[in-house]
Amino acid sequence: MMLAGFFFLLLLTDGASSVGNCSYQAVLKHLDLTRNNQLFYMSRPVDNHTKTTHVFLDVKLYAILDIKEKDQQFVPYVWITMEWHNDYIYWDPDQFCSIKSVSVPSEVMWKPDITIEEMTERDKAPPSPYLIITNNGTVKVANDQVLVSTCTMETYKFPFDIQRCTLTFTSIVHSVKELELKPFVNSAEATEDSREVMRTQSEWLFISMNVSNKSIEMDGFNQSFVIYTITMKRRSALYVVNFLLPILFFLCLDLVSFLISDSGGEKLSFKVTVLLAVTVMQLILNEILPSSSDKIPLVAIYCIGMFAMMMLSLVETIVVMYLIEKDSASQDDNEHIGLDVNCGDSPANFLNCLEVNKRRHNESSCSDSIGEMPSELRSVDKEDSDCQLKNESSEKLSGEAVRTLILLLNSMKAEGKKPGYWTRMTKIINKVFLGFYVTAAGLFLLCIFVGWTKEQD
Ligand SMILES: *[C@@H]1O[C@H](CO)[C@@H](O)[C@H](O)[C@H]1NC(C)=O
Ligand SMILES: *[C@@H]1O[C@H](CO)[C@@H](O)[C@H](O)[C@H]1NC(C)=O
Ligand SMILES: *[C@@H]1O[C@H](CO)[C@@H](O)[C@H](O)[C@H]1NC(C)=O
Ligand SMILES: *[C@@H]1O[C@H](CO)[C@@H](O)[C@H](O)[C@H]1NC(C)=O
Ligand SMILES: *[C@@H]1O[C@H](CO)[C@@H](O)[C@H](O)[C@H]1NC(C)=O
Ligand SMILES: *[C@@H]1O[C@H](CO)[C@@H](O)[C@H](O)[C@H]1NC(C)=O
Repeated sequence: MMLAGFFFLLLLTDGASSVGNCSYQAVLKHLDLTRNNQLFYMSRPVDNHTKTTHVFLDVKLYAILDIKEKDQQFVPYVWITMEWHNDYIYWDPDQFCSIKSVSVPSEVMWKPDITIEEMTERDKAPPSPYLIITNNGTVKVANDQVLVSTCTMETYKFPFDIQRCTLTFTSIVHSVKELELKPFVNSAEATEDSREVMRTQSEWLFISMNVSNKSIEMDGFNQSFVIYTITMKRRSALYVVNFLLPILFFLCLDLVSFLISDSGGEKLSFKVTVLLAVTVMQLILNEILPSSSDKIPLVAIYCIGMFAMMMLSLVETIVVMYLIEKDSASQDDNEHIGLDVNCGDSPANFLNCLEVNKRRHNESSCSDSIGEMPSELRSVDKEDSDCQLKNESSEKLSGEAVRTLILLLNSMKAEGKKPGYWTRMTKIINKVFLGFYVTAAGLFLLCIFVGWTKEQD
């Protein structure tokens, strides 16, 4: 009060002479603004304590440097401008060579104690050393800051998610009656400003910056808040190309693998390989997504769903292989009934083997018939010649028969073994399962797709 009166007096006595008052020092001298003048930085610059200091805030987003979903961290680079009125600063530009503003060291002036609630780390760079005062008492300070702030991120729709991070500005010690925070510009202007100055957005696309002010009762007194809500959208193209599509391709590979023959282990090992590839993808996903999410992210459901389907198809392959094995085992048993010597796979072996079998068979039948007959009724010579005759004729006959049989067997070998009951069943099982698989995969993908495109609430 006294100081203001003093200035007023000074201005009155100043008169018309302004020659030589063209330096900033003259203005400071006029204001009595020196390091030793503690009045300027000790307390809130109002000439009546009931007055409220209005602090206007302006935040421009220059860059989105980093977003760590895992740590729930948002690192923007911002310019923060604050403006308020100091009742003790006034000069007439006409008397000071039209000087309208002077920059002074920031420590000589009172500054509002504005903090950002979400900030978890102090900026290492020193704050701007100067602030600007204007002839009618407006004080302006601008600071650039790399903010390391917390931000609760909802990763349900990853990688098609939209994140909202807030920066809440407030004064720690002053109530709303003493210090009121106000945004300098409205949401539309703030968005426009930030879009103009934006340098880098990394994998994010800046959408908008919403500004709102409110006053909330805290610790017994009302505090003023200005909240900047930064909305941004993830650029998902790379995730689609590098993550979602490969898994989809693996599913296609798994579907195509139904064309591989069930016999032999190729189909099984192929399916296991595809399944392992999906597991690798899941590991990568684990590194990106935070474990704090309430809802399981759709992408994790996508992954595990694909995994489950491929696993089912693997199980189906194993079952089918088991059935075929069972079938061939019983088939082998059948073949062995007529043959005393186990015959190999090659036709030459088979031929020899059949000869051996045939000979044994004949010998046994002949000697058997001899053994069975009562000795009195038996004419040994006749029987012997009969048996010989039978053997010779059957040898001739069976020579032809064996050849045709071998041809038949060969042709059957070429088109696979004679299909048994289970082999026929596996064909049906395969078809039914493929139908089920394709339907389930289609429905699943559709559900996931709907989930991803649905509006975020
Ligand atoms: C500069 O202004 C002061 C008042 O603010 C006045 O007393 C002084 O005479 C002026 N100096 C000149 C050289 O005009
Ligand atoms: C300070 O402000 C209050 C209310 O705003 C007013 O009643 C009082 O007279 C003022 N005091 C001075 C010295 O101006
Ligand atoms: C102070 O002056 C600046 C320009 O010099 C102007 O923009 C601002 O509105 C003025 N403020 C007041 C309170 O007169
Ligand atoms: C911005 O804030 C206003 C009110 O504070 C709200 O109505 C509006 O929906 C918000 N816009 C966005 C995009 O969040
Ligand atoms: C928000 O700021 C505007 C002026 O910028 C003011 O009119 C309004 O009262 C403020 N709202 C609250 C809740 O402080
Ligand atoms: C805070 O403000 C509300 C209205 O906005 C008022 O009802 C309440 O009494 C205030 N509290 C204090 C401690 O001033």
